[in-house]
Amino acid sequence: MNRALWGIALSVGLAAGGILGFGLTLPQELHIERYITTPADVAQTRAYMSDLRTWPEWTAWNTELDADIQWTFTGEPHTVGHTMHWEGPIMGVGDITLTSVDADGITYDLTFEGLKPSHAGLHHKGYQLIWTDDIPLGYNPLNRIIGRKVEMSVGEDFVKGLINLSRSAEADTVAMQAATTALAEFGGKLKGALGGSLKSGDTPATVDMCRTVAPALAEQMTTTSGVSLGRASIRLRNPKNAGPDWVQAWLKKQPVKAEGVTGFKRFDSVDGKRYARVVKPLAVDGPCVQCHGAELSDDVSARLAEHYPEDQATGYAVGDLRGAMWSEYAVPEVVPLNHF
Ligand code: HEC
Repeated sequence: MNRALWGIALSVGLAAGGILGFGLTLPQELHIERYITTPADVAQTRAYMSDLRTWPEWTAWNTELDADIQWTFTGEPHTVGHTMHWEGPIMGVGDITLTSVDADGITYDLTFEGLKPSHAGLHHKGYQLIWTDDIPLGYNPLNRIIGRKVEMSVGEDFVKGLINLSRSAEADTVAMQAATTALAEFGGKLKGALGGSLKSGDTPATVDMCRTVAPALAEQMTTTSGVSLGRASIRLRNPKNAGPDWVQAWLKKQPVKAEGVTGFKRFDSVDGKRYARVVKPLAVDGPCVQCHGAELSDDVSARLAEHYPEDQATGYAVGDLRGAMWSEYAVPEVVPLNHF
């Protein structure tokens, strides 16, 4: 071999050695961490984080990246042991398993195509959404060099996912606030109107007030806020107050007495649309029995008979569950941003 070839061989060898040597100076574990700020409620971000069935909607690992990817989910969402498995020509084969679910987020194990499992976490602390992953790279210096590239591309995917997560959770937060606030306002106004009118001592006039004010108020609030709301019961005075099916379904499952009945705030999906829904139970108390009790005064009976020939809303005792106030608001649609 001539001197020139020796020289080349030597410098290639030195360069390779240099790169490997550099690799050896890098850490054996790769820590990836990204965060964004969010105005969403932690209850709403966490609901997405801990339900792996929602991940294909908001993470960067979705059908835009791999059109033929297939997911399978096992275990209970929001519970340790809940698992997502995926297989796709581009995304490969992998699993995510929840290892803890807390008030502010989750931790999970990620296994990917025979690599050592990594430990990751997704949390909502204060106004920050933080995503971390600790990937063991092992001793191999080449892995450690590749790790730097992995850090950048996974970090980018984290940010995309966090932004989509925040946007969906923000829409939910706003919708739930709208439904809750409108219902509280409706309840407060009705209570005020009823109390004020009863004080006058003219109960039949209050019957008329209930008949005209309650439905008008519900309609006006729906028009101004976009929140549908009302009062409902399974024993109706006014058949128009039946409310939506989901309210009737809930009412039918409740006991006679109101004690321990709590109502709910939840999100339901119907035909691909998402709704924030609130139900607050209404118990019968002292003043209610004047118009909903077992014994009514003659003038109240007469006034009710005049307007409500099919009245079923009498015979209640103090402490009974009279019905519920309900509200519903359609969550504005959020189209995930995949192309950054
Ligand atoms: C002065 C009489 C009067 C009093 C007192 C009264 N209500 Fe009523 N209530 C009515 C009338 C009248 C209606 C029907 C209103 C309508 O046409 O929408 C009604 C309707 C309702 C409804 C809607 C479901 C249905 O049956 O149509 C609920 C729920 C309800 N009342 C609960 C209560 C509760 C709880 C109290 C006590 C805090 C109460 N009411 C006190 C007269 C009264």
